[in-house]
Amino acid sequence: MKEQLERIKSEALAKMEAADALERLNEIRVAYLGKKGELTGVLKSMKDVAPEDRPKVGQMVNEVREMIEQKLEETKAALAKKAREEQMKREVIDVTLPAKKANTGHKHPNSIALEEVERIFVGMGYEVVEGPEVEYDMYNFEKLNIPKGHPARDEQDTFYINDSILLRSQTSPVQARVMEKQKPPIRMIAPGRVFRSDEVDATHSPSFHQIEGLVIDKHITFADLKGTLAEFAKELFGEDTKVKFRPHHFPFTEPSAEVDVSCFKCGGKGCRFCKGSGWIEILGCGMVHPHVLEMCGIDPEEYTGFAFGVGLERIALLKYEIDDMRLLYENDIRFLKQF
Ligand code: DAH
Repeated sequence: MKEQLERIKSEALAKMEAADALERLNEIRVAYLGKKGELTGVLKSMKDVAPEDRPKVGQMVNEVREMIEQKLEETKAALAKKAREEQMKREVIDVTLPAKKANTGHKHPNSIALEEVERIFVGMGYEVVEGPEVEYDMYNFEKLNIPKGHPARDEQDTFYINDSILLRSQTSPVQARVMEKQKPPIRMIAPGRVFRSDEVDATHSPSFHQIEGLVIDKHITFADLKGTLAEFAKELFGEDTKVKFRPHHFPFTEPSAEVDVSCFKCGGKGCRFCKGSGWIEILGCGMVHPHVLEMCGIDPEEYTGFAFGVGLERIALLKYEIDDMRLLYENDIRFLKQF
């Protein structure tokens, strides 16, 4: 019996020593300690052992069992450690490999142009404010000297929510809102989306963007307006840019003008870009009408001011030489990537 136990012990230990995978260990456990295992077999044959020897043999069986179990645990831990080390070696990261390229988006030409305009005016001490896109008729028209039935309403037909609420057709209502709320001096620009019931074509869209400007203070004159816009044009289109003021009419300014800049492609000689004229129209402006000041709670005897409105898309199209406005709204990555 004793020799049998010794043999079982050394055989089991040798097998475990040789085991190279966790599955092998399990086979060994079953072969020796399982229900039909060799050691279990020895226990079953205890009935053949002389009663006085039984405790001794029993103790020996237990010792062998404990030894095998302990060795099983040790081998298991060693194998697991080895497997983990091999995995670490296999999955080592080569930090010198080129990284996966993260695809970042591109700024829309409108955003680039807007940031540029904001930079210029903020540099001159202007505040950037916003107004609602869904607006009262009162602000969009009435307080800008465009009462019901005024012909200027025809050019700015828009989408009506009801009789008194509409989608703003211009950013000019922000002028009225700011004048009502804020005491002069006022120096602000108001960029934002506007709406018109226009058909889509290369130069029109039912939804586009404008940037409004407003300055109100004591002793503001047309000369201030001219100087400001001349500076703006130079910053935006280049140091050599000249401006030209053509008389025009807007209901909320008097006098009013449209502003052309000298063509930054040909320098004013005339080319395809400026359709041979040497000038490119960029915005509308004027001195704020005294009646508008009055309607917005500002005393026209004490204060004067100027205003201007510029189309954001128009600037983006000019600056980046894009010949169709629809490209700005298609969100084609191949187009956006170019800016
Ligand atoms: N709101 C005008 C338009 O949409 C543009 C404009 C012209 C704005 C003259 C002004 C201005 O502030 O003084 O056609």
